[in-house]
Amino acid sequence: MRNLQEHSAHADPREAQRLASGAPFALPPLPYDEGALAPVISARTIALHHGKHQKTYVETLNKLVAGTSFSNQSLEAIIKATVGKADQAAIFNNAAQAWNHAFYWRCLKPGGGGLPGGALGERIASAFGSYDQFRKDFSKAAVAQFGSGWAWLVDDGGKLKVVATGNADVPLTKGQKPILGLDVWEHAYYLDYQNRRVDHVEAVIDRLLNWQFAASCAGLE
Ligand code: FE2
Repeated sequence: MRNLQEHSAHADPREAQRLASGAPFALPPLPYDEGALAPVISARTIALHHGKHQKTYVETLNKLVAGTSFSNQSLEAIIKATVGKADQAAIFNNAAQAWNHAFYWRCLKPGGGGLPGGALGERIASAFGSYDQFRKDFSKAAVAQFGSGWAWLVDDGGKLKVVATGNADVPLTKGQKPILGLDVWEHAYYLDYQNRRVDHVEAVIDRLLNWQFAASCAGLE
C-alpha cells in the first residue's frame, strides 16, 4: 500500500480489509474505466490484464514476502535487492511485474498519442533526430523483443534512449529512469490482435500514449 497508489482505504471497505490482513501490496485501480482504451485495447483485454494478470503478480508477491524483511520495503527496493539472484527470482519477477504494470497503465490514456509537445517534445527531437525517428525506434524495439517483455523510453544519465527488456525486467535495475513503458507480453494484445503485435504497438503509440505522464516522469512538467 505504501508503494503502489495511495488510494484511500477509508473509501473502500475491501481495501480496509486487505490492510487489516497485513498484505503489504495492493492492486492499484486502473486510472480509467476498462472500456476507455477501446477500440485500440478492448475492455475484455484490460479486464483480464489488470484483474487477472496484474492482480496475480501482486497477490503472489504478497505471499512470497510474507514474514520476510521485504514486506516492509518498497517495490523499487525489492526489485534492486533481488535482481540477478537465482534464489530470489520469483520475488524479483513478481515485484518487477507489479511495478511494470502499475507504471504501464499510466503511460496510456484515451485520446492519447500524437506529437509530444513542450520540453519533452524538444528533448525527443534532439535525442532521436525527430519524433518520427523515435516512433520508428520505439515500435521496432517493441516488435523485435523476442517473446515476452517490454519496450521503454528511458532517461539514461540525462540522455533519452529506447530500450527493450525481457520478461519482467525493468530499466530501474540498470540505473535508467523509465519515462514510458509498453507491455508486449502476448496477454497485452493477443485477444484483440492475435499475432499482429506490430498493429497493436503502432495503434498504442499513435492513439494511446500519455505524453503528459511521460513529461512528468522526465521531470519536465
Ligand atoms: Fe502485462
